[in-house]
Amino acid sequence: MSVIKVAILGFGTVGEGVYRTIQSHAQEFTAVLGKKVEVVAILVKNIQKERNIREDVLLTTNFQEILRLPQLDVVIEAIVDKEPTFTYLKQAIGKGCHIITANKEMFAHHGKELLDLAKENGVSVGYEATVAGGIPVIQTLRQLLNINRVSQIQGILNGTSNFILSEMREKKQSFAESLRQAQAKGYAEADPTNDIEGFDAFYKAMILSRIAFGEEPDWQTVERQGITAITSELIEAAEKLKLRFKHVASISKEDEQIIASVKPILVGDENPFYHVEGAENAVNVHSDIVGRITLQGPGAGMYPTASAMIEDLVYVCQSKLNSRQNIKKTADWRGQIRKQKDYWLLQGFVEKTKHPEITWLDEVTDSIFIIEAGKEDLKGLLGRQPEICYFQILGDENLPILNKPTATVI
Ligand SMILES: NC(=O)c1ccc[n+]([C@@H]2O[C@H](COP(=O)([O-])OP(=O)(O)OC[C@H]3O[C@@H](n4cnc5c(N)ncnc54)[C@H](OP(=O)(O)O)[C@@H]3O)[C@@H](O)[C@H]2O)c1
Repeated sequence: MSVIKVAILGFGTVGEGVYRTIQSHAQEFTAVLGKKVEVVAILVKNIQKERNIREDVLLTTNFQEILRLPQLDVVIEAIVDKEPTFTYLKQAIGKGCHIITANKEMFAHHGKELLDLAKENGVSVGYEATVAGGIPVIQTLRQLLNINRVSQIQGILNGTSNFILSEMREKKQSFAESLRQAQAKGYAEADPTNDIEGFDAFYKAMILSRIAFGEEPDWQTVERQGITAITSELIEAAEKLKLRFKHVASISKEDEQIIASVKPILVGDENPFYHVEGAENAVNVHSDIVGRITLQGPGAGMYPTASAMIEDLVYVCQSKLNSRQNIKKTADWRGQIRKQKDYWLLQGFVEKTKHPEITWLDEVTDSIFIIEAGKEDLKGLLGRQPEICYFQILGDENLPILNKPTATVI
């Protein structure tokens, strides 16, 4: 029986999970592919570390040694940072290998170049693990995009932020204490900037935009806000209104333009994101035929991420992973998003009489308000009072909060 030879770059949480899964699911690979899958090499940084790896596997710190192997079919990448990863993957493609990556920061920056290079070289790129860990969002989009027109994707894409917001609400803890809990549980890194300032979710959103719409918005135009402005007071006010804060990345196509944002928003219990708690991720895909699909599951971790990578392994071996470069042509249509009224929670001392264009719906405390306003009107208000904090409430006029007797027009 012929063999598919695989190298794994990195043997940390993800790399080790992939290695173990390839051993534990050997029979399934053979049944699906009709070939054995064999890990022939592993790249690490520190060769001295104790690791549980078969002796016949080449363990090295030198990627060129791996490239010199007489047969190498797939390179699975689970290291960190943009470089040397990007260089290694270009070299692997040049050698005729399929590549699979979990590295969202590198892929958000260099994914297009890798996909183009792979196309030129007749190989495939798997990147399911770059977005929402174990949730098969990229595969779902690929399948939907055959005929459906995707108009909007929204996602809770960063488990650490979601965990912190859940802890703050459930345990009535401060942001700082909840962040410490996330670090103690291994969800947040010692430097949590990427997670709590929204960079991680931003990279994932850009990857989703490319697959759904064939292009990305200009990165400079994307509104990116982390969760550091969310205070216990705000969480408590939202609770009173039966709303929850969620950190949501949103990408849509409107009038030929990609609009994207990554920011905290408020959702009511009719929204699937309301019940997404802890380190879970969730993604809503809106498309014209099927409507809304919600996918929810573990966004990170050894086996969920390995699951995404080994499913990619099957697909690249079956050469089913086609680049979606042609999506732009086929999905070149006007966004179909229903324009809905926008509702906002404002925090700050707002001088209402100065803003006659705004409909004031509720006064939760003397500094927290619910309003209805178009984006332009809100911009006008912020222009006059830039110190005001604002959060969008996702939903429409059916939101329970807006029909409650307390939600009287002020
Ligand atoms: N952890 C998750 O749940 C998760 C989920 C989705 C995506 N990802 C992405 O997957 C990638 C790996 O994450 P991880 O959590 O597995 O990281 P990790 O536990 O820190 O492991 C990183 C591995 O890469 C090796 N490495 C780092 N730099 C290297 C270099 N320049 N050359 C060779 N080897 C190098 C390290 O070698 P040593 O062992 O010798 O130090 C280590 O084995 C990251 O891009 C991450 O964003 C992670």
